[in-house]
Amino acid sequence: MQSTAPAPLPEEIRDVIAPLTGLEGPLLPMLHAIQEVWGHVPQAAVPVLADVLNLGRAEVHGVISFYHDFRDHPTGRHVLKICRAEACQSVGGTAVAQETLARLGVDWHGTTADGAVTVEPVYCLGLCACGPAAMIDGRVLGRVDAARLAAELEAAS
Ligand code: FES
Repeated sequence: MQSTAPAPLPEEIRDVIAPLTGLEGPLLPMLHAIQEVWGHVPQAAVPVLADVLNLGRAEVHGVISFYHDFRDHPTGRHVLKICRAEACQSVGGTAVAQETLARLGVDWHGTTADGAVTVEPVYCLGLCACGPAAMIDGRVLGRVDAARLAAELEAAS
């Protein structure tokens, strides 16, 4: 998932999406599959998807930028998502987020200078009763504060 990986070749992208061509509405599953492999949707995927699905490049681009789940750039080694939805905000989620962003020296969607952590917003993790909620590399955490997030990130690295 780190940014030092070379850009994938069109053939590699075709290999990943080939099993999905028979699906109805295959673009989203293809984008998920690509992101699963490379950690983001590389620029090189846009013309391949447009060609395979007979779509305009702008259409493919539009879908990538519409869905918050898709990234068009590589992430850090760890991805921290902090819930910004209402229930978590009402129990201090905003302060947790601000403190964590300040400590890491990044803004939303930013990656720390050492490439260790990317911080992204998420809008409900299904843990509303245990907010503020967050997720580190797919592992959900309830009742977090900034100190716990720092400790969890430390433990993950
Ligand atoms: S509002 Fe944060 S987990 Fe639902």
